[in-house]
Amino acid sequence: MTSPSPSASTPRSEQAPGAATPRHAPHELLGLTSPAYGGDYNPEQWDEATFAEDLELMAEAGVNLVSLGIFSWARLEPREGVYELDWLVEIVNRLHEAGIAVDLATATASPPAWMATDHPESLPMNADGVRLGLGSRQQYCPSSTVYRERSAALAAALAERLGDHPGVVMWHIGNEYGCHIAECFCPACARAFRDWLADRYGDVERLNAAWGTDFWSQRYTSLEQVAPPAAMPTFPNPAQMLDWRRFSDHQLRSLMEAEARILRQRSTRPVTTNFMGDFPATDYWRWAEALDIISDDSYPDPADPAAAHEVAWAGDLMRGLAGGRPWILMEQAPSAVQWRRRNSPKRPGQLLLWSLARVAHGADGVLQFQWRQSRQGAETFHSGMVPHAGRDSRTWEETVDTGQALTRLGPVLGKPVRAEAALVLDWESQWALSTAIGPVEVGERFEAARAWHRSLWEAGIATDIVPVGRSLEGYRLIIVPAVFIDRPALAGHLERAVAAGAQVVVVGPTGVVDVNAGAVLGGYLGSLRPLLGVWVTDHAALTGQVQQPDPRGALVNRLSRAVGTPAAETWTGLEAVSEPLRRVLDRMGTPAPDLRAGGWAEELRIDEAPEEAVTENTRAGQGRQAVEIVAVFDGRGGGADLAGRPAITRRTVGGAGAGWYVAADLDALSRAALLTLVCAHARLRPVVADLPDGVEAQRRGDILFLLNHSDRAAEVAGVVGTDLLSGQSCTGHVIVPPRSALVVR
Ligand code: GLA
Ligand code: ZN
Repeated sequence: MTSPSPSASTPRSEQAPGAATPRHAPHELLGLTSPAYGGDYNPEQWDEATFAEDLELMAEAGVNLVSLGIFSWARLEPREGVYELDWLVEIVNRLHEAGIAVDLATATASPPAWMATDHPESLPMNADGVRLGLGSRQQYCPSSTVYRERSAALAAALAERLGDHPGVVMWHIGNEYGCHIAECFCPACARAFRDWLADRYGDVERLNAAWGTDFWSQRYTSLEQVAPPAAMPTFPNPAQMLDWRRFSDHQLRSLMEAEARILRQRSTRPVTTNFMGDFPATDYWRWAEALDIISDDSYPDPADPAAAHEVAWAGDLMRGLAGGRPWILMEQAPSAVQWRRRNSPKRPGQLLLWSLARVAHGADGVLQFQWRQSRQGAETFHSGMVPHAGRDSRTWEETVDTGQALTRLGPVLGKPVRAEAALVLDWESQWALSTAIGPVEVGERFEAARAWHRSLWEAGIATDIVPVGRSLEGYRLIIVPAVFIDRPALAGHLERAVAAGAQVVVVGPTGVVDVNAGAVLGGYLGSLRPLLGVWVTDHAALTGQVQQPDPRGALVNRLSRAVGTPAAETWTGLEAVSEPLRRVLDRMGTPAPDLRAGGWAEELRIDEAPEEAVTENTRAGQGRQAVEIVAVFDGRGGGADLAGRPAITRRTVGGAGAGWYVAADLDALSRAALLTLVCAHARLRPVVADLPDGVEAQRRGDILFLLNHSDRAAEVAGVVGTDLLSGQSCTGHVIVPPRSALVVR
């Protein structure tokens, strides 16, 4: 048996990303006097007359920024090594003359046909070994030498020609890296994976130790034997999967970083690449470090009642990725998309309302995909700011309204959102959780984090989203939802925050595996155990899978009909033990609602004696108290075997701070009840109290956004100032019409 050396168990690439690079606010970098407004502009689809009309329409709509050239490679380099850039320069010139700035793409998102036909090895390969062909977009392998060389050369050619052009204000590297091809299983990627592993582990024995290859006879005798986790007989090794995720992320990121370096050598303009919210394949905490401006593409479904939460979630995440600074919405749909099974248009007013919601959550620019709706191609029926119908259409009218509204929001630029609640988000933990075989079934998109963020949002609490490695100083409430990898650095930050009086709510499954996907031994929660005073011994999934294919069988199956199967339930009941939590529930209705959880529950053990030792994180005289049981499983539903066991606990440190642990997948009502109690301890107030249903409030600096997502006019009291949108003054009661907003200063 070989045990991993310290360097193998804590590899370099695992360390916290570190402080964000100093960045200026986007409005300074882009020279904005009001939020950026515009969209993807793909003029190569159109003739001269249309281009001339575009300039007029852009002026009418208040467009001040367009993203140009994102899918122009085939026109810019029609034959390998032969560039035709004049047409693009001409368009930049004319946009500049018209006062429209350009976010210039490096045009490397979709290679031209010649790359596929002359260099077929540049095409990506799926897990079944199939090369994916030409005819859509993004058909490149991220390890392909020719793709790397040609994309670098194109970025350089563009930067040399247009890097100092006064009309170019920002670089747009690639487009939505990984959107279609986030991993490639071709021989070049297998080679690159082995090189990456060699760099990470040094030798094959360290890899064997990290991956636990003594199980299932997976031991390697040479790194050359290791392959990507392509099609295989059954479950892959989770450590291999986790490293594959890291590698695939690294491979894409290295493409973006290579282009960023090339641009910076030739141009002083800031660089961005458009993120996709909480896209699962890319650890955007790492990506953000290489960018000057954070930008996002976001397509909430107008048919989803939680769509406005999607806007808030993505916005808070982007602000977090930007280190608290503003960011740019790079793409949203002017109305419907075309890629869902059913594509709902935005409802009247929703384009402006959601645009303002983006700004409320920290965006200093709102761009759409795309300026003019395509007449041909795969996105013909994706809305555009200029729709097929032309100016005489609701989409155009709302495009103009939105642009006009944004021109009045100059005072918002650069203003920070101040949140006292934080939610910890860790991409690697999500990878480890979703590639683990068990213990609980989760999706790919941070389900627990989204659920807790939504509860905070519904409660009106402004929230930051932060990575595991960052100091949590200054936050009064910190939620740690399903951070599956045990992160000692996070535990340290949390202990310091609690010692300073913060409420920390840890939600399972957290601290279950190490950085190599190996189980934490001696009780899950790992390094969080001293803070919380509890540890997890078992996970209990509630499967909701009742095995009853033959309902009349119970009449005759004397043996099996007597067997209890609580795990076949989809929910479990909890009982509030703490008097304050009972009071919260009492206030929520008559009769008071009960607490429930679904999906999974955990079996907890409690550290009996309070820990007397004062660690470096708890000041003298501020020792940890005994663990208080806030709620227990009450035996209803799937929790029968957990009856009476702790489900929610709290350990106070010093006088005020506390570490709470939640050992179940609480439903929305139970989360809301618990947060009411925790927020009271944290002395945390909503941005605006007692708002009517459907109304969201957010603040940026001295500016208050009142966003009415509902279908009814809403009355809000105590609003004083000037509505920047209408210019009207507010002197107390205001009426916010349905699906509209006030921006009050
Ligand atoms: C993504 C892409 C765009 C476009 C939109 C359509 O965001 O970046 O090029 O395809 O989807 O919704
Ligand atoms: Zn490949």
